[in-house]
Amino acid sequence: MKFICLTLLFVSGFTDSRSEQYEVLGPADPVFAVAGEDVILPCFIKPSISVVDMRVEWFRLDRKDSVHLYEDHDDRNTDQIQSYRGRTKLILQELQRGNASLKLSTVQISDEGSYRCFVQSESCFGDATVVVSVEAVGRPPVITVDGFDRSGGLHLQCESAGWYPEPDLEWLDSEGVSLSSETTETHRNTDGFSVKHTIIVYKSNNEIHCRVKLRHHMLETLINTTNNIFISWRTSVILISVIVVLIVISGILTAGFAHKNRTHKQLQDEHRKTQHERDQLLQSQKSILPKAVAHLRRHASVNVTLDAASAHPCLIVSDDGKQVRDGNREVDRVDRGKHRFNAYLGVLGKDGFSSRSFYFEVQVKDQTVWDLGVARESSNRSDKLGLSPMKGYWTVRRFNERYWALENTSVPLSLRVEPQRIGVFVDYDESFVSFYEVKSMSHIYSYTDPSFNEKLYPCVGLGYRWDYNIPVCNYNSTPLIICDE
Ligand SMILES: *[C@@H]1O[C@H](CO)[C@@H](O)[C@H](O)[C@H]1NC(C)=O
Ligand SMILES: *[C@@H]1O[C@H](CO)[C@@H](O)[C@H](O)[C@H]1NC(C)=O
Repeated sequence: MKFICLTLLFVSGFTDSRSEQYEVLGPADPVFAVAGEDVILPCFIKPSISVVDMRVEWFRLDRKDSVHLYEDHDDRNTDQIQSYRGRTKLILQELQRGNASLKLSTVQISDEGSYRCFVQSESCFGDATVVVSVEAVGRPPVITVDGFDRSGGLHLQCESAGWYPEPDLEWLDSEGVSLSSETTETHRNTDGFSVKHTIIVYKSNNEIHCRVKLRHHMLETLINTTNNIFISWRTSVILISVIVVLIVISGILTAGFAHKNRTHKQLQDEHRKTQHERDQLLQSQKSILPKAVAHLRRHASVNVTLDAASAHPCLIVSDDGKQVRDGNREVDRVDRGKHRFNAYLGVLGKDGFSSRSFYFEVQVKDQTVWDLGVARESSNRSDKLGLSPMKGYWTVRRFNERYWALENTSVPLSLRVEPQRIGVFVDYDESFVSFYEVKSMSHIYSYTDPSFNEKLYPCVGLGYRWDYNIPVCNYNSTPLIICDE
């Protein structure tokens, strides 16, 4: 700061000019401002005489343009820098007390820089420099699943934009241990900095956190992978459902900032923000399942052909083995061997699997009674068997307009949409069977710890026929269709 008074005035005998001597003072430290909030740029004169009759000008050192000009008892802002229009204010009562602090509302990232507060009386002038440092808290990080590689690595990406200055992004495991990013990217635009880091995760870890930090602000998103995303590692990786939890720890501001009003306002803002964040996260979740299904189609898809020799005598299996429907009456068949379903309207796939993983899709559209999943080679196919893991079946069922997972005790399922096409994923090595509705890309159910021990066969069925003469269950002759890509 400096002040200069025109010595000429002293010489020519203005006795009161000495009392007009003053010093212009600004803050010793940079002023921190949060984007979107208001900030005071302190500047006052010592001794604290009124500056109402003086000229007060605020300008930016790097631009030499006026930010705010007060002259002849009024604001004269015709030459004001465009971006400050309507956002600057000097308070009259404060001017009377020698306080020329500038109130700057709705701080923008571009407000960062050095300002000069210039106070000029008839005989003196002085100025002070105020350094303003702007901080913008970006949007919550969004984790997306980029896919899986051959070695079973899950590729995750975390992205967050709208920060200023550049924030730190870090990945953490459930123990809070920092994991190193595979790639990092930073971009700068008018909205601030956006950061994007990727990571490849190789072993099941409860939670992977993505944390973006900037001074006193931190936003964090986590992806919960516990028995969720990837039950199976080596062969292929599948997501069932992903719980993305967001933790917002924000607004732990330095004492200089934390006064009550702002804290209250912040809480309100945060509430609004959280709502927005939830919407955003829901969006990101929706993007995950299609990626998983695309992966399964590419890497685990098997060509399923139905084995007419295993089909219940009432069922008609198409020649190509891709469709089955209820013929509604029993056709004569020579072989009634023990491999054929005899009370339940079921049919198995020709090929069984006893290692790795496999995936197939079945169209169930317009059929109102069905079961589908996998069966153990030795599963019971006679009598009024109930399909359950105990009997060697891992299936989901539609019956009476309701849905079940046929666990040893059936689990009712609430599905949001009527399934049209169902994807069945089995990871033999990792003991895992999962069902998806692929039209709406929603998860239906997963058997997470079945014991297979033998070959597994794809299995579809159309319900029961308790009495061979009276079809009690299924009057609907719509076929179930094995879908080939
Ligand atoms: C100076 O005025 C501003 C408002 O423009 C006010 O916030 C600040 O507290 C005042 N400073 C002093 C030291 O009174
Ligand atoms: C992650 O999932 C596991 C198991 O489902 C659960 O115990 C844990 O609380 C979850 N963590 C979070 C943060 O939701």
